[in-house]
Amino acid sequence: MKADVVVLPGDGVGPEVVNAALSVLATVCDAADAQVSIDVHLIGGRAIDEFGTPLPDETLEACRTADAILLGAVGGPAWDHLRGEQRCEAGLLRLRRELDVYANVRPVKVHPHLADRTSLRPEITRGTDLVIVRELTGGAYFGQPRGRTGTGPDEIARDSIVYSAAEIERVARVAFGLAQSRRGELISIDKANVLITSQLWREVVTALAVEYPDVTLTHELVDSFAMRLVREPATIDVVVAENLFGDILSDEAAVLSGSLGLLPSASLGATDQGLYEPIHGSAPRLAGRGIANPYGTILSVAMLLRHSLHRDDLALAIESAVDVCITEDVLTADLGGTAGTDAVADAVAREALRHLGARSGATT
Ligand code: NAD
Ligand code: IPM
Ligand code: MN
Repeated sequence: MKADVVVLPGDGVGPEVVNAALSVLATVCDAADAQVSIDVHLIGGRAIDEFGTPLPDETLEACRTADAILLGAVGGPAWDHLRGEQRCEAGLLRLRRELDVYANVRPVKVHPHLADRTSLRPEITRGTDLVIVRELTGGAYFGQPRGRTGTGPDEIARDSIVYSAAEIERVARVAFGLAQSRRGELISIDKANVLITSQLWREVVTALAVEYPDVTLTHELVDSFAMRLVREPATIDVVVAENLFGDILSDEAAVLSGSLGLLPSASLGATDQGLYEPIHGSAPRLAGRGIANPYGTILSVAMLLRHSLHRDDLALAIESAVDVCITEDVLTADLGGTAGTDAVADAVAREALRHLGARSGATT
C-alpha cells in the first residue's frame, strides 16, 4: 500500500497531539510494510502569521490531491481579535467546504474503565456506543445572507440557516448506511416545531426511510434529545443532525466518554478522501506542556486508516491498543492520570505492535 497523507497540525495542542498520533501511524505502517508519505502544511493561526490567511492556497492545493488529511486543531487567544474570513476557524470551515466533506462521523464509546471518571453516574454511561453523524458543510455555518449592517442600537447581525433537500439527503444516506452496519436504529434530530429548515429536514429523512427498511427511524427535537443524551445514552445507536446541532451535541456527548480529548472524527464526502480530526479544539491552556490527551487524534488516525486507506487491520490494531492502554491506566491529566502526551503514544504504539504481531503469528 502507498498513500499520501497531508498533515495540518494547526495551533495550540494541535501539533502535540498530531505528532503523537503520527508516531503511532509510523509504527504500525513500518510493521505492516505500508508506505505512507507525510506532507505537513500550515492552517489556522500559524498560517495567518506566515501567509496572512488561515487557509493558504498551497495548503488547500496539497489537501485536494491527498488520499487523506489529518488535522490537529486551530485557533487561540493570539488570533481571537480577527474577524470574518480572517479568523482561524474560517480557514477550517473553508477547507471542509472546498473538500466537500459533508458528513462528519463522530463515534462516542464509553470505555468500561472510564465509566466512573465522568461527571455522570457509571450506571448511566456504561455500555454507551453511539455515533453522531453531523452535517458539516451547510446550515448556519455557511448560509447566506450573513453579516452586519447598520450602527449603534440599529445595528443588525444576521446568520442564515439554509439547507437544500439534496444536502439533507446525502448526509442522511451516510447515517442510514451506518445504522445498517450497526444496531439498525437511526435518530434524526431537528427543531421541526419551530424551524422551516427542520421541517424540510424531517420530510427528506422520512422519505428516504423507505429505502432502508432494515433501519428503524425516529425523529427527536434537539432540546429534548440533548437531555436524553445524558439520561439514557446507552439506548442510542446512530444520530444524524444538522451542522450546528451536531456540533453542540457532540461536545455534550464527550462528557459521557470522560474527556473531550478522547473523541475522534472523520469528515467524509463522495470519494474515499477524508479529513480526520479530534473533535476538541486547540486547548490553549494546555499548549506547550506535553500533557494534552492524544487518544482522540490517535483514534482519528485509526479512522483514516479504515476509511481512506482501507486498512482495517491497522485501524483495528490501533483501536485495540487504545482499549488496552486505557484499561492499564495510561491516562493524561484530564482523566486523572499522570502520563504525558508522548508517553501515551509510545504505549499505544507498543501495544499496537503486539496486536499486529499476535495476529500475523496466528495466521502464519
Ligand atoms: P477546546 O476544545 O480547545 O477546550 C475545551 C476544554 O477541553 C478545555 O478545558 C480544554 O483544556 C479541554 N481539552 C480540549 N482538548 C483536550 C485534550 N486533547 N486533552 C485534554 N483536555 C482537552 O475548546 P475551546 O477552549 O472552546 O476553544 C479553544 C480554541 O480552539 C478556540 O479558538 C476554538 O475556536 C478552537 N476550536 C478549534 C477546533 C478545531 O480546530 N477543530 C474545535 C473546537 C474549538
Ligand atoms: C468543531 C469545532 C469547529 C466547528 C469550529 C472550530 C469551527 O467546534 O470541529 O467541532 O464548530 O465545527
Ligand atoms: Mn465543536
